[in-house]
Amino acid sequence: MTGKTVVLIFDDLPGLYDVAAERLVYLAKKAVAGRGRFCLALSGGGTPRPLFERLARPPYLDQLPWSQVALFWGDERCVPPDHPESSFGQFNQLVLAHLPAPPGQVYRIRGEWEPAAAAADYTEQLQQAAGSGQPWPRFDLALLGMGEDGHVASLFPGPMSETESSRPAIAVTAEYAGRPARRVTLTPPVFNDARHILFLVTGAGKAEALAAVLEGPPDPARWPAQRIRPAQGLVMWLVDETAARSLRQLRGEGG
Ligand code: 6PG
Repeated sequence: MTGKTVVLIFDDLPGLYDVAAERLVYLAKKAVAGRGRFCLALSGGGTPRPLFERLARPPYLDQLPWSQVALFWGDERCVPPDHPESSFGQFNQLVLAHLPAPPGQVYRIRGEWEPAAAAADYTEQLQQAAGSGQPWPRFDLALLGMGEDGHVASLFPGPMSETESSRPAIAVTAEYAGRPARRVTLTPPVFNDARHILFLVTGAGKAEALAAVLEGPPDPARWPAQRIRPAQGLVMWLVDETAARSLRQLRGEGG
């Protein structure tokens, strides 16, 4: 665990998601005031749904400067955007469909394309979004979840490929929880350039991985969430009691 990591443990899920929404709004306002836009990378899966539902209704709906938000995805399953398993589709249904006007920019991973083509296209989108010859924008916030196997985005356990450190977006194939296996994911260099990372992790099924990632020895091949170590950014973990039940040091147990 790096020095720039904060872990907050909640005994109530509504409280966790309220803090997540408040943090997102705070970072959005700060980014827009400082740089004129808020670059936000979103995750998929079930954990962020209550957060997305909050963003689609007052007070957060009205607090976010949507016209100055640039939306990205940290990963995407290679399915059409209207597919029930699409991460874009989930956010579109829960949030975008409820906005009075679209966000400033939406950089969607083209899940309907072949993975390699979608990864190449997203690499170009990232470069375009960054401008001034940079390969990707520096995200003001990257929202991340974690799988029960410790995966993050679509970076799964196993030897890290060369492309994972040399390219901003890559195609991967991985079986997890019966979800679409063909994916496109951003890579650690992009996430680790972010100003802020916000992990949302809930549920007893995540307890072993969370303890290994936060308190175990460094083993990023086995625990991909350990690959997220931003050089300058702050990593905040919002976790519930059940996911935190195997933590020791962070709970002041075990000396
Ligand atoms: C996805 C996410 C993935 C997710 C974890 C946790 O495409 O599903 O990007 O990395 O965050 O698999 O998923 P849950 O939140 O559903 O447990």
